[in-house]
Amino acid sequence: MEYNDKVMDHFMNPRNVGDFPEGEDIGTGTVGNERCGDIMRVFLRVEGDVIVDAKFKTFGCGAAVATSSIATEMVIGKTLQEAAQITNKAVTEALEGLPAAKAHCSVLAEEALHAALWNYAQKHGLVIDGVKPPIDESERAH
Ligand code: FES
Repeated sequence: MEYNDKVMDHFMNPRNVGDFPEGEDIGTGTVGNERCGDIMRVFLRVEGDVIVDAKFKTFGCGAAVATSSIATEMVIGKTLQEAAQITNKAVTEALEGLPAAKAHCSVLAEEALHAALWNYAQKHGLVIDGVKPPIDESERAH
């Protein structure tokens, strides 16, 4: 499987790995893919309605690490509403492409981001257009 240089860069030197100190008022989203077993967790620090920082922890393949890395870069500085517009396609384009067999990894990044947005919105009584509750793994279509 061929990964391009940009994907390899984000895999080898992932940006924004980690978490925020316990007790911080953040948005957190965790999603997994049952088939490959990969798990992705995204954390968002928000001020007003702007995401001022984002971090992630991913247990998964190289593309899962790369997509979560670039997704955190993409959301920093965006409003909650703008972040909700980020699709797996946008993530893939930002990485200048992924092998077809790795498309689901970018879907996981979109889902993790949306799960974190959902979590933040729930905590603060907000409605973010286009953000739905995270998919229950048991209901995912195989
Ligand atoms: Fe499952 Fe990459 S192989 S997220």
